[in-house]
Amino acid sequence: MNLQQLTCVAVYLCAAGVLFLALLNRVLILMRERWYKTPFIVLVFMILSCGAITAGYALPLLPWIMIPMLILSAMLVGEILRLGIRQKCAGSPPIDTIPHKIKLTRPVTTTDLICHRYQIELPQWHGERLRVAHLSDLHVNSHLGAEYFREVFNAVEEEKPDIVLYTGDFVTNAKSLPMLREIIRPMGRFGSYAVLGNHDYWSDDREVGKVLMDKGIKLLTNESTVINCLGGRILLTGCDYPWGQSAKNIQIKDKASLHLVLSHTPDNIYWMSGKSADCVFSGHCHAGQGRIPFFGSVIVPSAYGRRFDHGHFVVNRTHLFVVSGIGAANPPLRIFCQPDIFIIDICSCIRG
Ligand SMILES: [Fe+2]
Repeated sequence: MNLQQLTCVAVYLCAAGVLFLALLNRVLILMRERWYKTPFIVLVFMILSCGAITAGYALPLLPWIMIPMLILSAMLVGEILRLGIRQKCAGSPPIDTIPHKIKLTRPVTTTDLICHRYQIELPQWHGERLRVAHLSDLHVNSHLGAEYFREVFNAVEEEKPDIVLYTGDFVTNAKSLPMLREIIRPMGRFGSYAVLGNHDYWSDDREVGKVLMDKGIKLLTNESTVINCLGGRILLTGCDYPWGQSAKNIQIKDKASLHLVLSHTPDNIYWMSGKSADCVFSGHCHAGQGRIPFFGSVIVPSAYGRRFDHGHFVVNRTHLFVVSGIGAANPPLRIFCQPDIFIIDICSCIRG
């Protein structure tokens, strides 16, 4: 292989890699869990890689090199646009993170739980300070061990939250339901509330829902509930879309209430903000589960790619919180990506 062919193969391989990541993030990773899912993803990867090598080897440099160059240019423009939108929607950073940052010398961070604290001012809230604990994506499984999950719940209880919000993916498969029943417990002075995630639907949504109800966690399946507490009124809505039933009947904002929405995926943010949600709480992305230091996430199951992979955003005046989650799935491993919980204090007026 001469230098020209080597260059050609390298460019084609880069373009194939970008194409594969786009397909993986937007389609392949969202496929229902079946025995053929992983082999199918590997097959797509092999086809694209082998196709890229063959094309780079066999085709002359010009004019065929324009095809991978166009793919790479489109990716670059997309990334620049994403960065711009992400910057525009950036919310406030956490006021505190406990304990602090990951170390480059310790790449495996599967159980290195951290807690991010946020404080936001919402004039819609008329009560005393409301402390929300947001958890997601437990993906309960024996690899992580029951003790890890108990430590997570202990950490949440230490924060003395007023309400606890779970945004889905309690299990990766139905085998973990007995363990979920063993470890999960209600928390929060005014209760725990949940929606299900795609993995719960793919496992056994009825059984997951039953475990939650038995344990005193209120499941909101495309419905709303009102919580009167701390001198204020909360309208809390759960949105399972697109995995559950149609979300057509979701109640719009009651003007006298603070409207909080649980949505497993952050992809619902734009239409939820159109429904006048004040805060949307999401998980699903696992913050990428594996992150490249100084670059961030690579694989994010979202129509918006890495735009809302993790953190606090403000979209059309709606606050969006996306947690990394507690567990990990397929494989149950996190690389340079810590599991986390968000503790969010909502105040009607923050006094300096
Ligand atoms: Fe998940």
